[in-house]
Amino acid sequence: MRSRKNSKNRVSRGESLRTLTTFRIGGPARCLVRPCSTEELCGLLKASAGKKIRVLGAGSNILASDRGVGGVIVKLDAPSFRGLEAEGTRVRAGAGVPLASLLQFCLKNGLTGAEFLAGIPGTVGGGLIMNCGVRAPSGTKAIGDIVERVTVMGYNGRLRSFRRKEAGFGYRHSALSRYIVTGCVFALRKAPGEEVRRRLGDWMARRKGQEYGYPSAGCVFKNPAQASAGQLIDSCGLKGRRKGGALVSKRHANFIVNTGGASSSDVLALIRLVRGTVLRKRGIRLEPEIQIWK
Ligand code: EPU
Repeated sequence: MRSRKNSKNRVSRGESLRTLTTFRIGGPARCLVRPCSTEELCGLLKASAGKKIRVLGAGSNILASDRGVGGVIVKLDAPSFRGLEAEGTRVRAGAGVPLASLLQFCLKNGLTGAEFLAGIPGTVGGGLIMNCGVRAPSGTKAIGDIVERVTVMGYNGRLRSFRRKEAGFGYRHSALSRYIVTGCVFALRKAPGEEVRRRLGDWMARRKGQEYGYPSAGCVFKNPAQASAGQLIDSCGLKGRRKGGALVSKRHANFIVNTGGASSSDVLALIRLVRGTVLRKRGIRLEPEIQIWK
């Protein structure tokens, strides 16, 4: 890998996406840039006009090609994108803040409302773009529910801000994917620390049935309306099916795991097998939740 640090941006060429994604799969990133501020991000976007630009958060929902990924990949992990600040019951968070750090901050500051995010391995920015969330007895809960305002930068370098209602949050979807999220304000409530800690524990306990033993990108498919992708895949007898190093998890059928040395084509072949089987046997077309970067 060749690396270069200039006064403006930190640019690396050839950094392996295998080490930057939770799937532990992927070839080199042709150009990975870590801007230090919104001004630098703006300059980078202007200088990259016409190129394909992708944003990498915690890499927890991405399948990157073994052949590598071209264009410009932006990673907002510099300190100015990792700020956390409380003002009363509001928390201002940078896009690069890991969700786990947000939850620790809320615990320390006696703030409740975000605990359902426990165990989600993403960042604030990535989480907002895809409106990550969980299934709960009271219905689904997603990060968009607790947001007051989101700050984004357009690919033209212009900053703007959306109120929650303007951000187009839906199931694993938002209207923010046309922008780069730079930060947001969460609206939470005060609660004693012990209560926040107990709730965090309760939410973690719900994830027990999920797959943690092997690297993965979490759930591969979105749940179709009124159905569970995991249940559908399971009922087709696909748990334990394998292509190379990729395996349909034996614990949760909507997880594909990397049992060691899986290639992106192994995972894609398994995705095709699962989709084809569920369509043939159940008449339902599953849509991937993960992003496929080629
Ligand atoms: N089920 C099976 N077999 C399986 C997996 C699940 O029969 O192999 C059944 C379960 O017993 C349950 C139902 O399917 O009755 C739903 O399963 P689960 O509670 O695990 O929830 P899910 O709908 O599969 C969703 C999110 C998860 C989130 C969980 C828990 C999606 C696609 N998935 O899973 O999110 O962690 O709820 O709240 O919405 C992710 O997005 O990456 C993710 C893991």
